[in-house]
Amino acid sequence: MDTTNDLTRARVLITGGTGFVGSHVAVALAGAGAEVELLDNLCHSSPNVVDRLSSLTGVDVPLHRVDLRRHEQIPPVFSGAPFDAVVHCAGLKSVAESISRPLDYYDNNVVGTLNLLRAMDEAGCRRLVFSSSATVYSPVGVPPLDETAPIGPINPYGRTKSVVEGILEELCEADPAWSVYNLRYFNPVGAHPSGRIGEDPNTDPANLVPRVLDVALGVKPEIAVYGSDYDTPDGTCIRDYIHVCDLAEGHVAAVARLDSSAGCRAVNLGTGTGHSVLEVVDSVRRVSGREVPIRPQGRRSGDQPISVADASLAETELGWSARRGLDEMCGDAWNWRRSNPRGFEENA
Ligand code: WQD
Repeated sequence: MDTTNDLTRARVLITGGTGFVGSHVAVALAGAGAEVELLDNLCHSSPNVVDRLSSLTGVDVPLHRVDLRRHEQIPPVFSGAPFDAVVHCAGLKSVAESISRPLDYYDNNVVGTLNLLRAMDEAGCRRLVFSSSATVYSPVGVPPLDETAPIGPINPYGRTKSVVEGILEELCEADPAWSVYNLRYFNPVGAHPSGRIGEDPNTDPANLVPRVLDVALGVKPEIAVYGSDYDTPDGTCIRDYIHVCDLAEGHVAAVARLDSSAGCRAVNLGTGTGHSVLEVVDSVRRVSGREVPIRPQGRRSGDQPISVADASLAETELGWSARRGLDEMCGDAWNWRRSNPRGFEENA
């Protein structure tokens, strides 16, 4: 593995590999020459993703149907040809759900990671890229947030990500053979331009972009806008939306650098540019040509007015920066939803 992002002959296991981010990471890694295998329990994704990935990459993409909460299921995954690295995307990811189901979030996101790390260590695979989140940051941080911004998650989901980051930091301190990147995602949106993979609407994401697309498709009558009295130019919240393909390419860059840098490093994956809720709605109107009625509502509890990354460390550390703008994000997401109204249900 080297800094040209050429991963030819690298063998990489992607946990959560049939999920939204994991599937796009699989395509990007295969595109960089890596041999990719997936691990997933399919609790929030479809097995049909595997065929889509094989047709997109032109290679076989084996799936290990494994639940990381069952530690005994993991060692057999490492019994074949050794993996050079693991990209760990498996986990539950809804802030709202984590508030009502904290034990499930700690079980999946923390216990599952501990079981994975044990199996990796036993197999002598000590290169890891971890799917972390901007929700580890404290609300007191002043945007744009760099990696030294105060840590202080305010919900169980964000806290599980922060706990795992701490575990990885201490593992790397205890054993210098480990090399880890904690990639802190801001707001992943969009879809692969082929329209063959994307965010499955059947997982009922509460996120803004899938819901605005539901309205553009006529699945929902209007989009509720949570709060229009924030201290922002148009009164609605601002977020750092990043195209999932840019995010995936950031993972390729991180995998390519695991060998050359020991220890544990946190890196933001964002664009450094914020867009408001209303700007996202306008973008979907532009790319779809559809009316998207809005219904202003009260604020959603827990929302920060502005969450935008300082993305400069990714450039210096990974030689990576996001390239795609908001209309490309919404245009690719629209293309995916319009081509797959029922997501991965039909393996068309
Ligand atoms: C964005 C903005 C809402 C829905 C979430 C997760 C976070 C990360 C990214 C994984 C907010 C507003 C939303 C709607 C709206 N995922 N909104 N109407 O909350 O920034 O972050 O996704 O790491 O963990 O919390 O994203 O898309 O839910 O909301 O007005 O119907 O859109 O209030 O201002 P968020 P989001």
